[in-house]
Amino acid sequence: MTASGYVTDVAYVPGFYPQMSPVAMRYVAALNGVAPPSTADGFRFLELGCGLGRCFTTLAAAHPRGEFVGVDLNPDHTAAAARDIAAGELANARVITADFGHLPTDLGSFDFLALHGVYSWVAPSVREELLAIARERLAPGGLLLVSYNAMPGWAHLQPIRGILRQYAALRQGNSEQRVRDAVAYLVFMREKQAKYFEDNPRAAAYVDALLQQDPRYLVHEYMNEHWTSFYFAEVAGAFGQEGLSFVGSLPVFTNFWDLCVRPEFQELFRTTTNRLVTEAHKDFCANTAFRWDIYAKSPRLMRDLGERLKEVDDLHYRVARPDIVLPYQANLGVVTSTVQGPLYQSLLGILRGRSLRLSEIVAAEELRGTPPADIVRAVDAGVAMGMFDITAGAIGEAPASPSDAVSIASPFNRALLEADSLGGRSLALASTLTGTGHSVGDLDAAILHELSARGRDGLSSRVAKRLEASGRTLQQNGQPVNDAAKRSQLVEEACQAFIRMSLPELVRLGIVTA
Ligand SMILES: C[S@@+](CC[C@H](N)C(=O)[O-])C[C@H]1O[C@@H](n2cnc3c(N)ncnc32)[C@H](O)[C@@H]1O
Repeated sequence: MTASGYVTDVAYVPGFYPQMSPVAMRYVAALNGVAPPSTADGFRFLELGCGLGRCFTTLAAAHPRGEFVGVDLNPDHTAAAARDIAAGELANARVITADFGHLPTDLGSFDFLALHGVYSWVAPSVREELLAIARERLAPGGLLLVSYNAMPGWAHLQPIRGILRQYAALRQGNSEQRVRDAVAYLVFMREKQAKYFEDNPRAAAYVDALLQQDPRYLVHEYMNEHWTSFYFAEVAGAFGQEGLSFVGSLPVFTNFWDLCVRPEFQELFRTTTNRLVTEAHKDFCANTAFRWDIYAKSPRLMRDLGERLKEVDDLHYRVARPDIVLPYQANLGVVTSTVQGPLYQSLLGILRGRSLRLSEIVAAEELRGTPPADIVRAVDAGVAMGMFDITAGAIGEAPASPSDAVSIASPFNRALLEADSLGGRSLALASTLTGTGHSVGDLDAAILHELSARGRDGLSSRVAKRLEASGRTLQQNGQPVNDAAKRSQLVEEACQAFIRMSLPELVRLGIVTA
């Protein structure tokens, strides 16, 4: 097994990325007129470079009908994933310790392939291995998600990576210690007004972002021997040579040029459909620094809306949050859009408090007389702007008041809550109804765990005790709260807010039974 210059002495951090859900990938394909793999009768999903495995295991818990495989060369990473698989009783997930050049030959083919946080950070020879896996292991019609550091957004920051790595190489200790020293050195350079920072104020500001990051993340972002930020056309060219075609990207709004490019730059989209040109134009207009792109192998195009309504009608749509009302304003990076009008008013009415399939929305009484294509366009734009979200299955009304007896149905979610020790990091609980993970802050996770284990009596004092034992500080207005009485009051308020607002939604998502 060879790491080819990738760091192995410090383990990564756990993370869940909803972009990797088959629901998100299938939706982007459908939106762009590509027939996605059906998931109704089961599917196979492979994550390459799965790190600690939190993403594919959460997805495995959310999709009992799917089979999930994670691959990583770092045995500490795969051991963590294996623990989550065992504790979460996930019969549909397994993890393999291997480098990409030595995957088991009997691995078979996959409907979904995910490559998050890998492509930019590995050696050119490893990228070749990844491309070969994409060519050989993705089933016809299958979808691949690849994320990477993008140009031109990284242009002014590339020297930061260079100096971090070069300075770290002079230091002692493991990669974590060396990256800490290297960040401290950057702070010194900035304080002393090194000309690079003077000439690049955004790079100077970026040092503050580095200081906020978990050093284990910094190790995996900056300490690898290889690190390349790519233009879209380079990645599209590489996957294109393996027979994969660009389908679209995440977040969803990046598929709508009028939502990601200011009006004065939109003319180009009216005169060319060449994706190499339009994507480059978008990336320059938005100064894109990170891309999540979806590719398909031998994609089958859906000719019209009728095909989409027939073939991808298992996805459901709902109003994303209770506070969404018209006029609705979406700030999407460089473009701010305002939504209003009777069509959206009707959609909000239909999709609030429940989820519907596209065919059901189009057939709704409230929308009689509106052409289906207009309705679907409005729904898709609403998804892009964060008004609606997409779920794997039907979601009902939130309960008026959840009962006192709270339990967590999924062994995976139970194990996550039991293991969480108020480390300041949110965790994602799996929902089979939405087909994805839902982020819960660590304090809310502790409240939910206490609630399910020992009920409401004495809830806030039990949570306060756990907080005390963990050493985690509470903050108010950006300041640590040291006063014990004030801390108890904040915990009490957090418990009440959780029961009032978060609990009904978790019940609605099927994560909690109450
Ligand atoms: C930045 S991490 C991303 C982890 C995970 N996908 C996530 O987003 O949380 C990249 C992962 O790729 C793994 N990796 C790097 N090179 C590899 C190789 N040649 N074969 C297998 N795994 C590799 C690393 O061990 C690391 O866990």
